[in-house]
Amino acid sequence: MSKRVLVTGGNKGIGLAVSQAMLALDYEVIVVARDFKDFALGGLPNVTEIEYDLSNIENLEQLAKEVGNIDILINNAGFMQPKYTYDNYPNEAKEKIMNVDLHAPVELMNLLCENMKKQKNGRIVNVASIAGQIGHPDVWYGIAKAGLINATKIYGKLLGAHGVSVNCIAPSPTETDMQKDNSEQRKKEFKKTVSSGRFAQPEEVAKAIVWLATECPVYINGITLDINDCSYAR
Ligand SMILES: NC(=O)c1ccc[n+]([C@@H]2O[C@H](COP(=O)([O-])OP(=O)(O)OC[C@H]3O[C@@H](n4cnc5c(N)ncnc54)[C@H](OP(=O)(O)O)[C@@H]3O)[C@@H](O)[C@H]2O)c1
Repeated sequence: MSKRVLVTGGNKGIGLAVSQAMLALDYEVIVVARDFKDFALGGLPNVTEIEYDLSNIENLEQLAKEVGNIDILINNAGFMQPKYTYDNYPNEAKEKIMNVDLHAPVELMNLLCENMKKQKNGRIVNVASIAGQIGHPDVWYGIAKAGLINATKIYGKLLGAHGVSVNCIAPSPTETDMQKDNSEQRKKEFKKTVSSGRFAQPEEVAKAIVWLATECPVYINGITLDINDCSYAR
């Protein structure tokens, strides 16, 4: 029987590249997102679509029941809203980004680790961002991603003893739809800090996620894997 992986936001961008790679490795892929109309893997055997808005944190328990037992959780779904400045950021917008980018991924770890613990085997990969390390003009995006990096460390400790490793990645800007929300000026400025002078491709980022989710030694636990081509060398 195929192992089961949940990829939140596995219908577009980085998440889609992860879904495609995991499918090619013979995993059963469950995708949670809001919009499946142009989903490249729609209707394929071994792919399940679950339409769900992750800002709805009240019903995550119900969502977890629908997902069922999984072997791997990829907390990838996320968004930013750089149109809001630090001094003009509506409360509703703050709540939404904190729910989708931090609260939901943490709750999904809580809810979906049970089966992994029972079988003493599981992997969780959280998709954070360089924004969580160096800050971001969308302050709440940076704050949420910093929280996810921190959550990765503590869940690595909590779940490691049960055979479940928890890691995260911190990519710098990557060529996906998300970049439509970034200003041309910021993109130009950022490219100056990257040694290759270009943004990452989603497939490059996905390769790192898939490695952490599959072949990576279990002793690698609680880390943040930088994917930034020296734009934040530390
Ligand atoms: N691209 C970058 O420059 C970059 C850099 C660092 C980190 N990241 C992180 O990488 C992850 C993937 O982003 P991406 O670059 O691939 O962007 P993307 O192409 O815009 O994909 C974002 C994904 O998240 C899903 N999503 C967003 N809001 C959601 C919600 N409320 N409920 C359920 N699903 C939701 C979207 O699906 P639906 O729209 O169908 O719901 C989509 O699949 C995000 O966590 C992002 O913060 C991106």
